[in-house]
Amino acid sequence: MNVINNIRQLRSWGTINKGTRCVFVPTMGALHEGHAELIRAAREIAGPNGNVVVSLFVNPLQFGPDEDFTKYPRTLIEDLGLCRDNGADMIFSPKAEDIYPPDRSIQLFETSLSKTLCGASRPGHFDGVCTVITKLFNLVQCDDAVFGKKDYQQVAIIRRLVRDLDFNVVIHAIDTVREPDGLALSSRNQYLTPEERAQASAIRAVLVLARDAWKNGERDPAALEKLITEHLQQNAPLGRIDYVSPVDAVSLQPVSSSTELVVIAAAVHFGAARLIDNIELK
Ligand code: PAF
Repeated sequence: MNVINNIRQLRSWGTINKGTRCVFVPTMGALHEGHAELIRAAREIAGPNGNVVVSLFVNPLQFGPDEDFTKYPRTLIEDLGLCRDNGADMIFSPKAEDIYPPDRSIQLFETSLSKTLCGASRPGHFDGVCTVITKLFNLVQCDDAVFGKKDYQQVAIIRRLVRDLDFNVVIHAIDTVREPDGLALSSRNQYLTPEERAQASAIRAVLVLARDAWKNGERDPAALEKLITEHLQQNAPLGRIDYVSPVDAVSLQPVSSSTELVVIAAAVHFGAARLIDNIELK
């Protein structure tokens, strides 16, 4: 496994590997079993002759001024072990100053899908994600890229980015990996106290409850939110809902007659952690 931490080396690696299928897993490090699953999926897609590239880069541009950029866990040595054990061929771990020159003056803005759900309470977050993914796609020159469905809005926005800016990259979305009690794996689970952790499994439970209510005909978003809020208050009083919304899985807008797939997405604060999860209504 090659570990590359500057753009010059990355370009040489690209020249040597030209013509080989390249499957890319962009991450911010602090890798866990959910990322391992993404890397294994990438390995499968790349086949024995392709290359699996993982980037480890905590992107400052996607954190708001009051968010956890400095606190975000950085676990490079463990991350490299997990990448190797799951079949990565190359790790790209650049420094922030390599990715963002101090006098940079060009950035991307997403003007539709990022206005709801997480984007509503994290202004600028998805502009930062779109900018870094554009730069990483240009640098890595991948054929495919793999993302986790836990970040459902992120996947929808990256698909839109690929379509709108004509990237020749196939996007693969992989199912969320969960703890035995249903909590979606996340690097931010580390912020939970034991008490918060014990209650955080309620996020999955309320999404299942919302799905069942939807299947039984409940279509009123306000009624669903009320049901969920009440359930959470009773079962996980440390949780504070940011949003719970049934939306169109592609447009992320309210469900309409043209919706083919509905997803219920939720964000819940537990102490210092803001956790997200979702459920598709198939
Ligand atoms: O999902 C993440 O870890 C990040 O948002 C990503 C896609 C690596 C961009 O920094």
